[in-house]
Amino acid sequence: DPRIILADEPTAALDSERAGTVMDLLRKVAEEHRSAVIVVTHDEKIFDRLASRLSYVNGDFSEDATYERVGEAIDGATTPVFYLEIPPFLFGGVVKGLAEAGLTATGRIVVEKPFGHDGESATALADELHQYIDESQLYRIDHYLGKMGLEEILHLRFANSMLEPIWGRDHIASVEITMAESFGVEDRGHFYDPVGALRDVVVNHLMQVVAASAMEIPSRNEPSMIKDAEVSLFHAVADADPAHYVRGQYDGYLDIDGVDPKSTTETYAALRLDIENWRWAGVPFFIRTGKRLKATQTELRLVFKHAPNLGFKARHTPPEPNQLVVRLDPSTGIRLTIDAHRADVPGTSAINLDMEFSEEGGEGPTPYEVLLHAAMIGQSTRFTRQDGVEEQWRIMQPLLDAPPPVHRYAPDTWGPEAGDKLVEGHGRWHGPWLAQ
Ligand code: BG6
Repeated sequence: DPRIILADEPTAALDSERAGTVMDLLRKVAEEHRSAVIVVTHDEKIFDRLASRLSYVNGDFSEDATYERVGEAIDGATTPVFYLEIPPFLFGGVVKGLAEAGLTATGRIVVEKPFGHDGESATALADELHQYIDESQLYRIDHYLGKMGLEEILHLRFANSMLEPIWGRDHIASVEITMAESFGVEDRGHFYDPVGALRDVVVNHLMQVVAASAMEIPSRNEPSMIKDAEVSLFHAVADADPAHYVRGQYDGYLDIDGVDPKSTTETYAALRLDIENWRWAGVPFFIRTGKRLKATQTELRLVFKHAPNLGFKARHTPPEPNQLVVRLDPSTGIRLTIDAHRADVPGTSAINLDMEFSEEGGEGPTPYEVLLHAAMIGQSTRFTRQDGVEEQWRIMQPLLDAPPPVHRYAPDTWGPEAGDKLVEGHGRWHGPWLAQ
């Protein structure tokens, strides 16, 4: 339902005519667009400042007059940022309209995923947009690039001399990336059914986690060099193999509004990627994600090689390999699992050294705060570049071309058994490290 949520009833504290006008405006937007407008302030000065910066233009995307009115509303802006929160099939027409109204020469366009539904359509979309704007003006949002945990992976790796040397095939046996969600598709059936888990979160979000955990250190802290390092990692990732791809669908998915009753769309995906470079050759990257799983938790987990058993101490239980975990969601933290001698058990057993960012300086701003701010200040590192998008599709294309059958799984489990078999020979899925 259209809603206006007013925290602490800010209107009561406001009597300026302007504030009233803005409230009317917000109400109108909410009602016409069935969206929620959230105004959380009862400080009149802050509200006036916000109000003085807002204007509302409505119109038809296909009419020139709409863009003229946008132009009048932003008259004088030197670097306008246009955030297109619209379906991708409208991107081309809207960017054309903005460009023809002379609004994009010094502007930036922010678009939301999906960037195509495969490699070919991603290229076609970029070609269409490049007719009107340069790649450097195009800011593609992958909200994972705004996550504190993702940035932390890079800092952890490149700011710590004790970690960088062990971050590779000499010490690491496998890498596991888990993005588990306990909620389902719910009211997003129409969007989700033609998409599925692989396109929804793997080809974009989880590939960003792969990039951050596997790329080489960029030569300089410059956007183009950071992107170059990321794309160069993608180049080294082998085409994914359908033989190492498991798809699942939770029981009950087919009853969701907007879902084809015979749908074979996956709500769970588990796959293995191999990176063919000096650092990672022979180290499988296992990725799994799913809806209606047992918990909501996203993490990167490095599983280290086993220590040799030299008979120094008799082991009574099989040792856990050392693990380093970066938790990305729902909160940010770092865990080190190592073997230690404890008083309560003979031999050694695993202990966890945990760190929660909420207790060390706090959590950072949310991804959209980070990303929209980055778009406004022109920090393009936070966005995906077209060559990266195309490489991500190239890696996943074999899975799209030859998808294996879907396995059913019960909600509130860790997905189909076949997903566990994927890691056979490499231990098991460890974790995830559940937030308290
Ligand atoms: C979105 C997907 O891009 O990311 C959703 O469309 C998914 O299906 C969501 O649930 C997860 O993002 P976050 O940051 O809420 O974990």
